[in-house]
Amino acid sequence: MEKDSKIYIAGHTGMVGSSIVRQLELEGYSNLVRRTSQELDLTSQQAVSAFFQEEKPEFVFLAAAKVGGIEANNTYRAQFLYENLMIQNNVIHQSYVHGVKKLMFLASSCIYPKLSPQPIKESYLLSGKLESTNEPYAIAKIAGVKLCENYNCQYGCNFISVMPTNLYGPNDNYDLETAHVLPALLRKFHEAKIQFDRTGQSEPVELWGTGAPLREFLHVDDLAKACFYLMKTYQGNTSVNIGTGQDISIKELAETIRKIVGFKGKLIWNEDKPDGTPRKLLDVSLVHSLGWKHQIELLEGIAEVYKNKFKNQDA
Ligand SMILES: NC(=O)c1ccc[n+]([C@@H]2O[C@H](COP(=O)([O-])OP(=O)(O)OC[C@H]3O[C@@H](n4cnc5c(N)ncnc54)[C@H](OP(=O)(O)O)[C@@H]3O)[C@@H](O)[C@H]2O)c1
Repeated sequence: MEKDSKIYIAGHTGMVGSSIVRQLELEGYSNLVRRTSQELDLTSQQAVSAFFQEEKPEFVFLAAAKVGGIEANNTYRAQFLYENLMIQNNVIHQSYVHGVKKLMFLASSCIYPKLSPQPIKESYLLSGKLESTNEPYAIAKIAGVKLCENYNCQYGCNFISVMPTNLYGPNDNYDLETAHVLPALLRKFHEAKIQFDRTGQSEPVELWGTGAPLREFLHVDDLAKACFYLMKTYQGNTSVNIGTGQDISIKELAETIRKIVGFKGKLIWNEDKPDGTPRKLLDVSLVHSLGWKHQIELLEGIAEVYKNKFKNQDA
């Protein structure tokens, strides 16, 4: 990838795509191609074919997808399967047809089997049953990984894929109906703090489950650095795990966020609600051996996100 290479970032308005754009610009890449979903609906085969014909990008980061938390995944099951399959099929196939030199597909750690041994190695993909709430999303993403692998095998393409863990950072989704756990906690605590500061009291913040499950979180700017690094240095059919290799309980995460936000009211755990998978931690030895390691520690990352997103704002 040269400084003047033409690079298409599919999904550049999203949390991951926008971070990849910032990273590329920081590294001096300026020949970047971007389209919003309004300008180019990636589920349309015809539109994507015309776009590749016109733009002929040399490199592609495929970070466009229908993404959401448990609730959204479970409610919009057909859309998660259909839209993600269509987006991937179109972008990956047209990248092959138009001779893209290299493509990176953004998969996700939620596509590993529900009861994977921990930490999760790349080789555990397709070794067991999926979590039912996000099965449609996972099936689509697995198809994307397999498309890359098999276009490499049959057509000699250079398409790679990565498996990021749970992400947080600038441009995250704070809509409580569709958000992932970390941004949802930030918003809930922030809104409760505003109420507490104004009135001296607030409704308790209610969180689901026992808080016992263990999860891993990576700042999206660290992910973008990894994507850039692997795009330049890695070639192969193994979809590379990207994470910190460290996990934290949801209870500890909630307490950390409560402290960062400065909420002094009550926090209750609704233990009638399900906990979900007890632990989800990636084995990151492959990406470490390839020469990348995360730099932003969780406390520092969350504090920065909170400051930039919420501080001095009334939610
Ligand atoms: N967020 C996480 O924690 C996480 C963790 C692991 C992996 N990932 C992976 O990273 C990738 C990006 O996730 P994200 O968190 O950045 O998602 P996001 O913030 O929701 O962004 C999604 C992007 O996809 C675009 N998009 C969606 N449907 C489209 C369509 N039909 N046509 C064109 N563009 C479309 C959106 O464009 P518009 O804004 O223009 O509509 C937006 O730019 C996904 O593949 C996801 O699986 C995310």
